[in-house]
Amino acid sequence: MDEFVTLTYNGKEIMLPMVTGSEGEKAIDISSLRAETGFITLDPGYANTGSCLSSITFMDGEKGILRYRGIPVEQLAEHSTFKETVYLLINGRLPDRDELTQFSVMLNDNSLVHTDLKAFYQNYPRRAHPMGILSSMVNTLKAFYPTLETVEEEINITMTRLLAKVRTMAAMSYKISRGHEIVFPRADLTYCENFLNMMFDSPVKSYEMKREAVNALRVFWILHADHEQNCSTSAVRMVGSARVNLYAAISSGIAALWGPLHGGANQAVIEMLTNIQNDGGNCQKAVQRARDKNDPFRLMGFGHRVYKTYDPRAKIMKKMCDELLESMHITDPLLDTARELEEIALKDPYFVDHNLYPNIDFYSGIVLRAIGIPTNMFTVLFALGRLPGWIAQWRESTDDPHWKISRPRQIYTGSQKYDYVPIHAR
Ligand code: ACO
Repeated sequence: MDEFVTLTYNGKEIMLPMVTGSEGEKAIDISSLRAETGFITLDPGYANTGSCLSSITFMDGEKGILRYRGIPVEQLAEHSTFKETVYLLINGRLPDRDELTQFSVMLNDNSLVHTDLKAFYQNYPRRAHPMGILSSMVNTLKAFYPTLETVEEEINITMTRLLAKVRTMAAMSYKISRGHEIVFPRADLTYCENFLNMMFDSPVKSYEMKREAVNALRVFWILHADHEQNCSTSAVRMVGSARVNLYAAISSGIAALWGPLHGGANQAVIEMLTNIQNDGGNCQKAVQRARDKNDPFRLMGFGHRVYKTYDPRAKIMKKMCDELLESMHITDPLLDTARELEEIALKDPYFVDHNLYPNIDFYSGIVLRAIGIPTNMFTVLFALGRLPGWIAQWRESTDDPHWKISRPRQIYTGSQKYDYVPIHAR
């Protein structure tokens, strides 16, 4: 039975349909609101706005639940490979053995990049941030791979190319930034092994592939693979809504992810922990500063728009961080600072009242450091993990029969009409 909510204004009533999701989430469909009443809705930061119907990821911020295509992220992190999770997100179901093999072959076949791309990397200023470079280079890929004959063929090949080549490009940019020889992808290595090998193998010293490092990267990427309508995914959907090519849409997602309030937080956490240490290791002082409304400082890696309890990804990341450092016999003083900071913050009345808990970025930087990833590459690693989510969300939006260009409205608060005055008369 259709359900409605009644909106009463100026003595009139209109009925607005209710929409219920498969997990019982409720929305009011306001698509006829302006036409019927002249009103629009105002919702800064879209905190109460559902921008689409989606069957990809479910999250419940109050209960700390995250599922991809219905499967709890905890189960995927425990049992799945990153490649299989990518297939699941993009195709909506787990692959059988043949499908997974075919997918692996396609990724391997597309993993090389055009050697002309090297010149672009070499001409970037040495101090350019890898996220800026990645965003530009993904956009540049379109120039190297122009349109194919059919739209369906183009979409499928472009998705595979992005998944295969962006990983190669990220490692390549790191090698070039250090002035080292590029290492090519190898078909005998898994998706995660290949990335580590391209990052760290060299003609003078073969990279020693450690099981713990490969597993940490696998879990890190699975945990980052999708997170429904977050800032960067919304950027991909919004830019994609203008029917721009997929490379350009993903490039905009990478740019959005770069921000320290979003994916850039993993780098910002390490910088914050280092500053706390350099300042004498006073975690109490950092928590006090974060509470002070006159101080712009925030605890990076804390708080989330949707999670009002412990981020389920952060729980897995924290456990993995402890296990990884122990099994690799690494002591990282930043981990001690992070633990102390978390303990103080979780007991602090301000953090308790504001439901501020560690998010995925709080411990992820320490994991990445342990496997040798340099700090300025952290957000690039996030982008590689989020790529399948962006692609799946873009594809869902382009397949939507009700697809429309994204075009919010506003409430204008500027000057009312007044006449132009020539410069000599002002
Ligand atoms: N430290 C101190 N106070 C905080 C923090 C924090 N990390 N996060 C939120 N608050 C406070 C705000 O000051 C605000 O207080 P008030 O209501 O008394 O004014 C309240 O909590 C709500 O904060 P908002 O900024 O309105 O919450 P919003 O949902 O818009 O922002 C965000 C969420 C951006 C993640 C925020 O918590 C934050 O800045 N965190 C630090 C950056 C970070 O870790 N980002 C990564 C997020 S996860 C990801 O994108 C992968």
